[in-house]
Amino acid sequence: MASLYLKNISKLYTPDTSAPFGTVKEFNKLGLLIEDGTIVKIIEEGGETISADQEIDCSGKTVLPGFVDSHTHPVFWKTREDEFIMRVQGKSYEEIAEAGGGIRNSVRRFREASKDEIKEITRKRLQTFFEYGTTTIEAKSGYGLSTEDEIKSLEIIRELDEELDLDLVATFLGAHEIPDEYQNNRKEYIRLLIEEMIPLVAKNNLAKFCDVFCEKGVFTVDESREILQAGKKHNLIPKLHADELFAFGGAELGAEVKAISADHLLKISDDGIRKMAAANVIPVLLPGTTFFLGKEGYAPARKMRDAGCEIAVATDFNPGSSTTQNMQLMWTIGALKLKLLPNELLWATTITGAKAIQLEEKIGSIEVGKQADLAVLDIPNLNYLAYHYGINHVDRTIKNGKIVYSRDC
Ligand code: NIG
Ligand code: FE
Repeated sequence: MASLYLKNISKLYTPDTSAPFGTVKEFNKLGLLIEDGTIVKIIEEGGETISADQEIDCSGKTVLPGFVDSHTHPVFWKTREDEFIMRVQGKSYEEIAEAGGGIRNSVRRFREASKDEIKEITRKRLQTFFEYGTTTIEAKSGYGLSTEDEIKSLEIIRELDEELDLDLVATFLGAHEIPDEYQNNRKEYIRLLIEEMIPLVAKNNLAKFCDVFCEKGVFTVDESREILQAGKKHNLIPKLHADELFAFGGAELGAEVKAISADHLLKISDDGIRKMAAANVIPVLLPGTTFFLGKEGYAPARKMRDAGCEIAVATDFNPGSSTTQNMQLMWTIGALKLKLLPNELLWATTITGAKAIQLEEKIGSIEVGKQADLAVLDIPNLNYLAYHYGINHVDRTIKNGKIVYSRDC
């Protein structure tokens, strides 16, 4: 049995999962014993002597659950820095998309490359997640937009999940855009999604969730409902990109179809907030996207909290609207722009993120019996993480009881 002992931990913070959102348990000076990837003992200072196969001295360090990034689009081919510069020069993200850039640009590039080429470049970029303390990600397809290319994307996610220590949870996002060849025949693309892609994805067990970009100019509320209902029939759990650019009824639809989460939500209506809270739909907020698109008007996180929503915060890592993989930066933007406090951000980036991908029984908090997914940070306390921003505080990342990133080597 492989064991690992984290000793002399100065501070440890974890969501208290037996208490309401935002309740944090804080420990000072303790040790953590891990056996076969599972947390087996939390040892208070002065307690028993422990011997383990491997020991890490965490003097002066703070331990948190590994971050759960509950919304990413990591499977793409070329990057889009040229569009970024166009935005710097005054073009909007929407204008670039309408002119055939944006997601459709990435789709054209994606189709040019082989599965192996995209897999290898994705494998390389996934390593960055461990460097920044993220131990599980939700990963969407959505740059293929043909049956063959969407399957290619989801197979890459499945294979990398199997081959790497990082856990990837797959979401089918064939409804990310209408691809070029269906621009004048959107009905046919939706038919393809419903009759061909969704059944095939489900049959091959290639995704757990089905997502739709429900937004003005992309998929309407009625089209999104049809697609998500078709996914549900095949046991794909609904998720939505909703109310990002306009108040469009996406949040309301999320409540209606009982989505596990509705994401973005900058323009959510008060009624949408009430309905999401009543239906327990998790708002996954992506403040890095609002920042990177240079938009004002972040998601109304405090209103959502007041209505009783549990909030998750994620990076939205993708080649266009949010290129960061750094959840620590989401703490800073989340604090300043969403007005979330460190105790809420801890939940939002760990246990509530885990709930948004239905893995809260296994990950997202530090408890005896849970998987040992941990971030060891060089910070003196929890408030410091959002405060000292733009740098990487991670000293070590531990995934399933194994050291997968160490700053010294
Ligand atoms: O979540 N909103 C849709 N999808 C991504 C953007 C993807 C892209 O620009 O490539 C998002 O922001
Ligand atoms: Fe997204």
